[in-house]
Amino acid sequence: LSTTEVDISKIQPGQGIKTVWRKQPVFVRNLVPAEIEAANKVPLSELRDPQTLAERTKPGKANWLITLGVCTHLGCVPLGIGEGENKGPFGGYFCPCHGSAYDTAARIRTGPAPTNLVVPDYEFSSPNTVVIG
Ligand code: FES
Repeated sequence: LSTTEVDISKIQPGQGIKTVWRKQPVFVRNLVPAEIEAANKVPLSELRDPQTLAERTKPGKANWLITLGVCTHLGCVPLGIGEGENKGPFGGYFCPCHGSAYDTAARIRTGPAPTNLVVPDYEFSSPNTVVIG
């Protein structure tokens, strides 16, 4: 089993990085409080693939949103990480291929993608290190 170790110490609030795990892009994002609040305000009944932000993050670390960077429609890499990238109408990620928009918990909100961006297995091996896989 392959794992990827990620140093998160330099990811500022509101920023994110792309890394790679098992040849797939992975997004590691440090959410700001307003993004966490926005995710927590959405009624689960409005979601196509109902999950809370808490279910998609680790206890006490709701700001660290770690998902595959693979659209669940046909596998394009969504935009949303990096300066000036298009986060889409729900503030998370936007897939330019066919217009799927994800929210600040990387949950699918509009467009053809059927499910949320996948949260891989991972753990914090130290306060500044995440091991994916
Ligand atoms: Fe993302 Fe189609 S692959 S919307």
